[in-house]
Amino acid sequence: MTSADFKEAAELLREGKLVAFPTETVYGLGGDAFDPTASARIYAAKGRPSDNPLIVHIADIKELEKLCVDVPEEAYLLADKFWPGPLTMIMKKADCIPKETTGGLDTVAIRMPSHPIARRLIQETGLPIAAPSANASGRPSTTKAEHVIEDLNGRIEMIIDGGSSDIGLESTIVDLTVKPVQILRPGYITIEMLKGVIPDIVYDKAVLKRERNDSIVARAPGMKYRHYAPKGELVIFEGEPENVMNAVLDATERKLEEGYVVGILASEEFAGDYVAKISRRWPVLGTGNGSKREPYALIEVVGSRDNEETIAANLFDKLRDFDAKEIPYIFGECFPGDNLGAAIMNRLVKAAGYHIEKV
Ligand code: TXA
Ligand code: MG
Repeated sequence: MTSADFKEAAELLREGKLVAFPTETVYGLGGDAFDPTASARIYAAKGRPSDNPLIVHIADIKELEKLCVDVPEEAYLLADKFWPGPLTMIMKKADCIPKETTGGLDTVAIRMPSHPIARRLIQETGLPIAAPSANASGRPSTTKAEHVIEDLNGRIEMIIDGGSSDIGLESTIVDLTVKPVQILRPGYITIEMLKGVIPDIVYDKAVLKRERNDSIVARAPGMKYRHYAPKGELVIFEGEPENVMNAVLDATERKLEEGYVVGILASEEFAGDYVAKISRRWPVLGTGNGSKREPYALIEVVGSRDNEETIAANLFDKLRDFDAKEIPYIFGECFPGDNLGAAIMNRLVKAAGYHIEKV
């Protein structure tokens, strides 16, 4: 990005146009947060329901006082520790933020991203930037410019390519308008890290939900929609590691017998065994042609069980890979749900439409 590129992008944003840009979490689809028409265009480009509020991105802490009213002390303590970075805070909104940007709510979600391109773009524009994840509504969030092109090409004015997102999962969202403060969406900033600042912080009940249960409704409107979902049917297995591996193998063999191509979302630790066992009878990876006559298994390594950051970074990209190859059945492993694992499992469980089998 040259300075001329930044100028051009900022000019587009000031005119009410849309620019997709990289952040440290996922790509964002940016528009002027003060402009109701720009927000309407964001909803239209994503095919997103307009009751689902957008996150407003800033580059300077002074903006908080302008965009929010009754900023609580906790906001400054959290900002001190985690901004710029992957944390979003919900507070009461000021009148300058139109309801179109907040999906009709009186509150607004604010984040100060750390990605240098995002920061410079916001500074250059001189406006707060409303930006949801830059994916078509319902699809996995975008962690590469290529993903944004897949979903939004022709619907927006510019896409800035900043390579792969570092973190790969969306920001942690905390709601500061309730007592005790709640985590509405888990992310890279974990509950343990947040407790260092707000000892009594809790999860919104919907965050840890593991089964379809319509009586528990997420307080972040966006978390109630089917989300992150690949087009194929994803089932994840939960239990002792050895049982999980065997269950993935059994489910895969069964679908291969029926004549389907099967995807496996594998940990690095299990992938070798999957390949060794399945390749005794079936083609593995992209060696088949994907027709019903020639079933094969596509084994995608999502990351290491010993390093959750690798799983977070690759998860959405791998789910998109299965879609690109039109894989009808995908089987995967559950991961431990603490620390960053809480965010990984939150996305994975939703991607599977709560289809978890205990083994
Ligand atoms: O990492 C991220 O947060 C990325 C990057 C681009 O910054 N953005 C992102 O935005 O994930 P989006 O729109 O995909 O997700 C925003 C979530 C939605 O679930 C939405 O319902 C919730 O935040 N949200 C936004 N404003 C809210 C509010 N005032 N009250 C409750 N939930 C809110
Ligand atoms: Mg999103």
